[in-house]
Amino acid sequence: MRRTEKEQFLREILGDEQPPAHLARAVIEEKLRAAILDGRLPSGIALRQQELATLFGVSRMPVREALRQLEAQGLLRVETHKGAVVAPLINEDATDAYALRSLLESEALRQSIPLLTPDDINLARSYIDQLESETDYAKMGTLNRLFHMTLYSRAPNKRLLKLVEEGLNEEERFLRFNLKSMGLGKLSQHDHLELLQMAEAGAVEPTINALVHHLNRGVEAINKYLISRPAEVARPASASRKRALAR
Ligand code: NI
Repeated sequence: MRRTEKEQFLREILGDEQPPAHLARAVIEEKLRAAILDGRLPSGIALRQQELATLFGVSRMPVREALRQLEAQGLLRVETHKGAVVAPLINEDATDAYALRSLLESEALRQSIPLLTPDDINLARSYIDQLESETDYAKMGTLNRLFHMTLYSRAPNKRLLKLVEEGLNEEERFLRFNLKSMGLGKLSQHDHLELLQMAEAGAVEPTINALVHHLNRGVEAINKYLISRPAEVARPASASRKRALAR
């Protein structure tokens, strides 16, 4: 993309409204996050500090801070020579990511379940109810995240919760585009109800086992999804996966 085309492209997506200086970082971060999450800013596109600073009429400092936040959330990654680029929807280490999430979220459940209140349980149940009637895949991804996060929310270790939330954000972004093709909807609801009932009963170990099972379904669905991409079928698995990532 030539420079002027890129400017035009970014302006169409992000607008060119100039935020007040004291809100610049927050406004820019939020606009970029929304555009990455709903797919208007596709994977692989480079976000240069100077381009964004010019677009929003601000110095590079708030832009740099906003990009750093988004990088910490896994939405951007820094590549040599390109700077910050929008991260791919799914990484080749998806299985590793789920394994790590199993560990972190199991610990979060262990800490949180004994401290959950009836209000927490009711809130979690309300997300399951909303998922029952929701048909918009983007909203389903969000409700899934909120449901899980509610069960973990009482864990006293805030750093643990932050890591857990990053993993859930990553999953939400992927589900947004692929929930339908992955066919996870109804199965997940059964899992969610089971998790809720066990958590409500205060049964720590059974809830953790159910969670690990639930996350394994996610791994299976992602692997199936990666294998089933039509254009990739004829190629050896490792090469096709690398090519899929390069898109
Ligand atoms: Ni879930």
